[in-house]
Amino acid sequence: MNEIDLDAHLAQAATDIAAATDLAALKDLDGVLLGKKSAITAAKRTLGGLEPDQRRALGLRLNEVRDELTGLLDERRRHLEVGERAAQLENERLDLTELDHGRRLGHRHVITQTWERLEDLFVGMGYTVSEGPEIEDEWHNFGALNFPPDHPARDMYDTLYVNYGDPQSTLLRTHTSPVQVRVMEDQEPPIYSIMPGRVFRSDTADATHMPVFHQIEALVIDRGITFGDLAGTLEAFTTAYFGEGFTSRLRPSYFPFTEPSAEFDIRRPDGSWLELGGCGMVHPNVLTAAGLDPEEWSGFAFGFGLDRLALMRHDIDDLRELFRNDHRFLSQF
Ligand code: PHE
Repeated sequence: MNEIDLDAHLAQAATDIAAATDLAALKDLDGVLLGKKSAITAAKRTLGGLEPDQRRALGLRLNEVRDELTGLLDERRRHLEVGERAAQLENERLDLTELDHGRRLGHRHVITQTWERLEDLFVGMGYTVSEGPEIEDEWHNFGALNFPPDHPARDMYDTLYVNYGDPQSTLLRTHTSPVQVRVMEDQEPPIYSIMPGRVFRSDTADATHMPVFHQIEALVIDRGITFGDLAGTLEAFTTAYFGEGFTSRLRPSYFPFTEPSAEFDIRRPDGSWLELGGCGMVHPNVLTAAGLDPEEWSGFAFGFGLDRLALMRHDIDDLRELFRNDHRFLSQF
């Protein structure tokens, strides 16, 4: 085959490939076009008898044509596979609501809905989701987070201790920040991860506090991460989660495990502010405690309560309602 014939061959092959209506037909075509008995293979066999210049030119062109054919076949195959999969799903479809016979279907709890929405949003921003234990050791909840023993900062948290091991060595985690340490221990940076979970403090239940509540933590560790990255991420999160018209602000604050530290608030379109959580640049001592070199890595973290977001979204004014498990209440959301 010469170069002109090859063009015609390619054009004809493209038409045939586009006309293949199922994967079996496409497989046959693949054999015809690229197999041992194909025109391309036959043309390759003639190369040996050509002058070096001609041989090189035809050889190159044959490779190009083969690559183009392979590309066209692959593309068509993907297209047909999607179609066949859709047809198979449609065939196997089972309408579960038909089994319901008029009974009501349940749905996920408001907190779970909020939890999953937040996960979806951060996953969309490229974050992974990590988890840690609810019963923690003193090291992960406090020590590794740069709370020295007997430091008054530990009183920021009304800790519930578990009667296990040495006194005060085991506790119900008071925040999701210990998961930061566990993630840094387990994973090489760069780390972009969120850590949702249940946390515990010995608070008396009232309209805005529960001894068991939920937080979501975010941790970013990479090279050259700055406070600007933190502020930008919080702002991007705020508009993505709450919508246009919402913005965020940072106020100086103190946490032993971040330096500098800040509280972050959300500004609603009506101008009112909602305190959401704490944040800051991961303290070098925390990086070191988790086995990372603070000269090489830097990062930020933030954490906030999840329950309050659920309340806000549904205009619920008493946190306790969420945990009474009164079906008449929960089924509204
Ligand atoms: N863990 C802190 C709290 O529960 C919040 C926080 C998370 C602050 C991450 C800074 C960085 O109060």
